[in-house]
Amino acid sequence: MKILTIVGARPQFVKAAAVSRAFQSVEGISEVIVHTGQHFDKNMSDIFFDEMQIPKPDYHLEINSLSHGAMTGRMLEEIEKVFQKEQPDFTLIYGDTNSTLAGALAARKLHGKVVHVEAGLRSFNMEMPEEINRILTDRISNVLFCPTDLAIENLKKEGFDQFDCRVVKCGDVMEDAALFYAQMAEEKSSILQDIHFEKDQYILTTVHRAENTDDQQKLSNLVTAINKINDQIPVVIPIHPRTKKRLATFGLELKATLIDPVGYFDMIQLIRNARLIMTDSGGLQKEAFFFDRFCITLREQTEWKELVDFGYNELTGSDPILIEKTVDRFLNETFKKEHNFYGGGTASKVIAETLLKIHENTNSYSVLPS
Ligand code: UD1
Repeated sequence: MKILTIVGARPQFVKAAAVSRAFQSVEGISEVIVHTGQHFDKNMSDIFFDEMQIPKPDYHLEINSLSHGAMTGRMLEEIEKVFQKEQPDFTLIYGDTNSTLAGALAARKLHGKVVHVEAGLRSFNMEMPEEINRILTDRISNVLFCPTDLAIENLKKEGFDQFDCRVVKCGDVMEDAALFYAQMAEEKSSILQDIHFEKDQYILTTVHRAENTDDQQKLSNLVTAINKINDQIPVVIPIHPRTKKRLATFGLELKATLIDPVGYFDMIQLIRNARLIMTDSGGLQKEAFFFDRFCITLREQTEWKELVDFGYNELTGSDPILIEKTVDRFLNETFKKEHNFYGGGTASKVIAETLLKIHENTNSYSVLPS
């Protein structure tokens, strides 16, 4: 069974690390990896392949820094060529980026079978490019691997039980990665010593979503909040290139500790030693939970609603007063984990085994699990 995997952006490398490892451990699966090039800096791409020992991409398309349409269009064109050459049994895409949508569209139009890992997530905010990408990708996927019960519910509400596809709850592949690499990160990362911070003495923050960085008022509000909090407890920010550019354009100054984007091992160490996480990243919201840390989500909605419903995470948007109030509250609370929402580290294995079964019995996708 041949799987064509399309990756391109940072969170997809983390997911692919877990799933490719599972593919290698199951007999009868061969994988061809395409890197679209969406993320291209050494510390946004290569470092993940190196530390997490992800197989080297077989194809590198080098498509980046373009508008949404141009980026997606050029990827579509190039992935189509790879698909025609490789003739895979399945084309696998992750998450919600432009690389995801391009991979799904290219394969489906050529009658390929499309596998979406991290299907069914919704923010219900159609202004987000990610929401558009994930809805369109889900609709044209043949096999939809959902990380949570809520994701399954979302698809049912959209009528997916009427469509010719298979929806499977598998758990979250990011939890597989977090569990697998945690010890290695502990041994190999020296980030805390490098930046002179100690356990529980800082807040880790990331901001990169277009909805926050491209809106001057929102970005300015976030800068105000972060600068104020930084006077109380140091804030460390691995700064995404998009955010760096926008801060410069809008003439905004962050007074926190800014560092370059970090690899997976350093990120894991920064998360598990932080007092608290503030982020607009989807992945970090869960990683905070995996490592028993509260999270403040700098967005109005989240796809990981279960974390908010059970008090592990709070949505503040970019409101500086609400952010400061929530920081104060979480700094005075103790994290107690009472749920296991994400499968406990077996998602990748479920994906590999399910695909093999579907491949052996290839006709129908139209079964929803009860
Ligand atoms: C993309 C995804 C988002 C995901 C995020 C993870 C889409 C629509 N968005 O957002 O879902 O959460 O990746 O980080 O696909 N840049 C660099 N170096 C890099 C990568 C990007 O300088 O290695 C620059 C680009 O040139 C561009 C900006 O950063 O100017 C944004 O990159 P882009 O790929 O458009 O989107 P992200 O914000 O990273």
